[in-house]
Amino acid sequence: MNLQHWADALNSHWGITADLRRLDGEYDLNFMATDTEGTGYILKAMRPGCEAWLVEMQVQAFQHIATRSPDLPCPRVIPAADGAAVLSLPDADGAARLCWVLECLPGKCYANAAPKTLSLIHEVGAVLGGAGKALADFQHPGLQRDFKWDLMRADWVGSEIDSIADPARQSLIREIDTDFAKLEPVLATLPKQAIHNDANDYNIMVTGELTEPRRVSGLIDLGDICAAPRVCDLAIAAAYIVLDHTDPEAALAALVAGYHSAYPLTPQEVDLVYPLLRMRLAVSVVNSTLMAAENPDDPYVTISQAPAWRFLEGVDIHPGLLSARLRAACDMPVVDGADRVMQWIKSERGNFANLMGEDLSDAPMGSLSVENSTWPQNPFHMPLAEAARVGEEFEDGGKIWLGYYHEPRLIYAEPAFRKGPYKASNRRTVHLAVDAFAPAGTPMFAPMAGEVFVVENRTGHLDYGGVIILRHVTPAGDPFYTLYGHLNPECCTRLKVGDQIEQGAAFCRLGDASMNGGWAPHVHFQLALTTQGIEADWPGVGDPDEMYLWRAVCPNPAALLNLPDDKCRYEPTSKEAIQQGRKDHFGGNLSLTYADPVMLVRGWKHHLFDEWGRPYLDAYNNVPHVGHAHPRIQAIAADQLKRMNSNTRYLHPAQTAFADKILSKLPDHLEMCFFVNSGSEANELALRLARAHTGVKGMVTPDHGYHGNTTGAIDVSAYKFNAKGGIGKSDWIELVEVADDYRGSYRRDDPDRAQKFADLVDPAIAALQQRGNGIAGFIAETFPSVGGQIIPPKGYLPAVYDKIRAAGGICIADEVQTGLGRLGEYYFGFEHQGASPDIVVMGKPIGNGHPIGVLITTRAIADSFAKGPEFFSTFGGSTLSCRMGKEVLDIVDDEALQQNARLMGAELITGLTALQDKHASIGDVRGMGLFLGVELITEDGSEATQICSYVKNRMRDHRILIGSEGPKDNILKIRPPLTIDSEGVEMILAALDSILSEVSQS
Ligand SMILES: Cc1ncc(COP(=O)(O)O)c(C=O)c1O
Repeated sequence: MNLQHWADALNSHWGITADLRRLDGEYDLNFMATDTEGTGYILKAMRPGCEAWLVEMQVQAFQHIATRSPDLPCPRVIPAADGAAVLSLPDADGAARLCWVLECLPGKCYANAAPKTLSLIHEVGAVLGGAGKALADFQHPGLQRDFKWDLMRADWVGSEIDSIADPARQSLIREIDTDFAKLEPVLATLPKQAIHNDANDYNIMVTGELTEPRRVSGLIDLGDICAAPRVCDLAIAAAYIVLDHTDPEAALAALVAGYHSAYPLTPQEVDLVYPLLRMRLAVSVVNSTLMAAENPDDPYVTISQAPAWRFLEGVDIHPGLLSARLRAACDMPVVDGADRVMQWIKSERGNFANLMGEDLSDAPMGSLSVENSTWPQNPFHMPLAEAARVGEEFEDGGKIWLGYYHEPRLIYAEPAFRKGPYKASNRRTVHLAVDAFAPAGTPMFAPMAGEVFVVENRTGHLDYGGVIILRHVTPAGDPFYTLYGHLNPECCTRLKVGDQIEQGAAFCRLGDASMNGGWAPHVHFQLALTTQGIEADWPGVGDPDEMYLWRAVCPNPAALLNLPDDKCRYEPTSKEAIQQGRKDHFGGNLSLTYADPVMLVRGWKHHLFDEWGRPYLDAYNNVPHVGHAHPRIQAIAADQLKRMNSNTRYLHPAQTAFADKILSKLPDHLEMCFFVNSGSEANELALRLARAHTGVKGMVTPDHGYHGNTTGAIDVSAYKFNAKGGIGKSDWIELVEVADDYRGSYRRDDPDRAQKFADLVDPAIAALQQRGNGIAGFIAETFPSVGGQIIPPKGYLPAVYDKIRAAGGICIADEVQTGLGRLGEYYFGFEHQGASPDIVVMGKPIGNGHPIGVLITTRAIADSFAKGPEFFSTFGGSTLSCRMGKEVLDIVDDEALQQNARLMGAELITGLTALQDKHASIGDVRGMGLFLGVELITEDGSEATQICSYVKNRMRDHRILIGSEGPKDNILKIRPPLTIDSEGVEMILAALDSILSEVSQS
């Protein structure tokens, strides 16, 4: 192989002057050629002796695709200067090789692309389908070739099974081969056409880095093209797509739906995808086993089989349910006749016997949705006492009320409804039945004649108790099934499988909580068009992200209840409608987090739920300091609102109780309290106090700080006034560099960095004095948060405070982010610094969602302020606020949340530091307790803003909410409610590890 030789050939025959790089190739020479303008070509010099028809066939096929579907991302053939597509040229040894040149498509191969999202996979399917459609009328005698990669001839595997040593693997391959043999008659009836036949993950190119969408940019290499049923092409691509995918069934559904969108399949073809996929994997493992025997010293041959074995041996897919899924993804009836069944049921609406013995047209609906109801209080645990009372708010003297189909609910709280190891893993929430709530003992009547298919007593915790499934047949002979759950299990002694039930027969009755699984008496009435893969054990609720499947398998049974579909079907609030409403009525600078924003409607401790009941781990919000929806906070609010809620013009013991509680956490010299409604107001007030006490206005503050949204607070918030469109710095402000010893002027290797950072205050003081502003004070977030979760070197603040006080100013510690135990080791950040502030400001976490701001100061400063006009805040220090604030502080103590912050923070830092060793994009891990920052960097150590945005959005895909901060927005901010536990920590670390691996792939 001589690069110059081939570069010369390319130049003299194609007129392309390019640098060449050798690419992988099993038998042929492939070169990547980049010309002087950066345009890429692929030069292919086939093995000597390669038959001309093989190259011609590929060339013609590419040309055919380019003519039929010019928009498909398939490479063009670049003709030589004389117009020929293929030339016979001597290689450096003088051997003649057939040579041809293709356009080089951008991107990396699918194998190396990450993440492999469902939308990318859908597009792979669409491109493959598009190519199949384009090749449908392509003819070439070579297409009838006889070779081992023709899936139609895969039965050669049967005679080679003995090459596999492991008997269990032998029998697995034999089983696949036997299944395949059964398909051969069906396959033989399918039309054959030219297919790509090798859409493996190295033959699909993908573009898109980090936050850009991933797009298919190439379907390359027609070296295995042959004539076969088109579904073989799809099955071969599928055999690669599923390998090591976290959700192979969803991946398959996306691929097949994509193919179908470009080149519509028949249901029969869709059903063939999975068995053919397995056969292709069998071909692949048997082939590599044979190759391994031929090349015993090549470990790669064995390693390359591993993912295929992992899939074949480890992934448990029910073929019947998968067929329903793939059909549903293509909008086809899940089984043949399913559409006829639904048409018939709908046409008979009104003629069915009334299930509950009465017309339900006027029966009220009761919503148990995640949005509308708070059952259960703890969405991760449904106590029996609560289950037995579910929906009691809709109770009306025993009258029947109905529960919705298609309604996401949180009442399915047991781990069995979870689809992963974590509380925030996907969970099945969406109800697939209609419920009728009525007193225990209420008889039920068969809507139409049927045969008992299942009758059982399911005694498990919160299961069905008595349950019956009836099998029905429409007049056209199509079967369907209805399920009745939460029955009195007496039906089990009366009925047996195969019994015939007449239309209108009273065949069962409602059980009470002692026998129906533990629930308030009701029937769960579900329709299914197939029992493939669910048999007797139907899911009563589905994963919101799989509703395309479950809506099709278990449609709305309203017609069987003689009710209109709309009455019984629930639709969660549309996220898009809310987003539009915000656009219509809210200012453009009210921002939303995430490219695809989330709508959150319920919470519990450190978890949140969206309108579909999807759980999220909240690793970002510090407002719910003691956890979302804390029962003690609910109780205090309800209790006080039952009594009265007034202001500080009247006496109430809650005022001093709150003050005493806060002051018990602070040094003795801080003894005077001001209650307001927000951190902004508290800081605004702090500025007034500083001016009142010093008689001057000048303030020193670190750069990129944030103290609130009011006029004065913005003036001291460089993060806002220096932002694009900001008001700029006022003349009474001087900024100093943030004491960031990772990226700032003085680094961690400098033992004097605290003093050096503090010394930067000197010129700021001098400048203010020079301008005649004087020094009213210094205000800083004790640990700068929006500045990048910075922990200043110890001793920094006391040194700054000394300088400020020497100049006559006072020192304000904004502890909105850092106070109240979040730091674990310290209740307030200034304790870590050994600093003694004159004013401490507290904000949002102190109300756990209720708006409270607090300012604590010295008697001398309060006295100076008291010389001015009356201070009054209507809601600051309201009776309710005082009780809420004290309760939050009490809960932090009673539930040892400061200790929890210390322990969980330590676990996080240990895990994050281990990730730092593994992932070059982590530059720094810093923080304390549950106030943590992970600084992401690029290869040259600069701020990785794009990576940070990518990670934040991908964490959301993994159901974890985190934030990002820093002047260049490259620092991940982890700041959960103080209730987070080890499971949450583990989830954060696992997700971050996997996402950062995607980053290193891109
Ligand atoms: C450090 C700091 N101070 C003050 C504020 C302002 O608080 P609020 O939004 O309650 O007015 C914030 C808000 O994020 C903050 O982080």
